[in-house]
Amino acid sequence: MSEISGSSPPNETTVLVFGSANVDLICRVRSIARPGETVLAPRYEQLFGGKGANQAVAAARALGQSGLVALAAAVGEDEFGTGIRQALAAEGIDLSDLQIAAEPTGCAFISIDRSGENAITVASGANGLLKAAAVSPARFGAKVLVLQMETPLSENLAAADAVRAAGGIVVVNLAPVPADLGEADLSHLLAASDVLIVNESELTAAAMLCGVGGKEPAASAENLARHADVTVIATLGSKGAILVSAGETAEPVPACPVEVIDTTGAGDTFVGVFAAALSQGLAAPQAARRAAVAASLACRKVGAQTAMPSAAEIDEALREIR
Ligand code: RIB
Repeated sequence: MSEISGSSPPNETTVLVFGSANVDLICRVRSIARPGETVLAPRYEQLFGGKGANQAVAAARALGQSGLVALAAAVGEDEFGTGIRQALAAEGIDLSDLQIAAEPTGCAFISIDRSGENAITVASGANGLLKAAAVSPARFGAKVLVLQMETPLSENLAAADAVRAAGGIVVVNLAPVPADLGEADLSHLLAASDVLIVNESELTAAAMLCGVGGKEPAASAENLARHADVTVIATLGSKGAILVSAGETAEPVPACPVEVIDTTGAGDTFVGVFAAALSQGLAAPQAARRAAVAASLACRKVGAQTAMPSAAEIDEALREIR
C-alpha cells in the first residue's frame, strides 16, 4: 500500500490504541546483568509504561487535543492500576474502554546501561486478559488503530479485523515478537494491517517467518512489504528508520542527533507519533519523518513517557534539522 492518508472530524476518537499498560520499575546499572550475575543499582524509579499506554501518550501529545486518542487496555484493581488511570486521564486520553481485570496490573522490570540501552522483563498480569469483545463497537470506527504484542494475539487480530471492516487504518508494532508466533497468525495479522513497524530484530524474525528474509534490513523490508502488501517501517536506533511500500525501494527516514540517556519508549514514541500524523492526513513518509524525530527526542530522559515530545517540540526539532 503506497498511499496512506486521510482526515477525521475533530472531537472524535481518531487514534485507538489497543494494548498494554504497565508500571515500569527502572534500575540504571553499569552493565546489564548476564545470566547468573547480580548487578547493583543505587536505587530504582517507578514510572508509567507499557507499549500500548506509551503509544497512546505519544499520540496524544503529538495531537495536543484532549479526547482524540482512546486506549483500550486492561489493568488490575490495585494501586498501579489507579495510578495508570490517573496519569493517562491527565494526558487527555479517553479511557472509556479501559478494562478492570482479575489479575494484577502489568509490571515491567527494566535495566538501563550507561549507553542508554535496556533489557526489559514484563509481568503481563492484567494485560493477558484484555478482550476485544469488551470494547464498545463504535470505538472500532476510529481512523487509525494501533496494536503491539504485549496483549493476546487472538484479541489483537479481532481488533484489527474490526477496524479493517470499518474502513480504518491498522498500524501494527510487532513488539515484542510473540514467542509462539506462527506463519499462519503472522499472515492473518499482516493481511489485516496497513503498516508494520518493527525494529531490526523484529524485522528479521517477521521476514524469516514469511520465508522472505534478506541480507540487509532494506532487503528484508522490501521483501516483506511486497510479500504482504503492507508498508514496512524498520526503526534503526540512532540511524533513524527505513520505510518501504509494496513493490517500492526502501527510503531512509532520518533521526535527529541527541544525547541519549535512555532509549526505553523510543520505539513507542515513533509508533504513537506516526499514528497521530496519519490520523491528521499526512502520508506515510511524512508521518514517519515526524515520528523519527520524536523518537530521538524521547531518548533524552529516563523513562518511556517522561521525555515524549509535544507537537511544538517535534516541529521545532524538524525546523532545526532542515
Ligand atoms: O517499550 C517500552 C515498554 O516496554 C516499557 O514501558 C515497558 O513497560 C515495556 O512494556
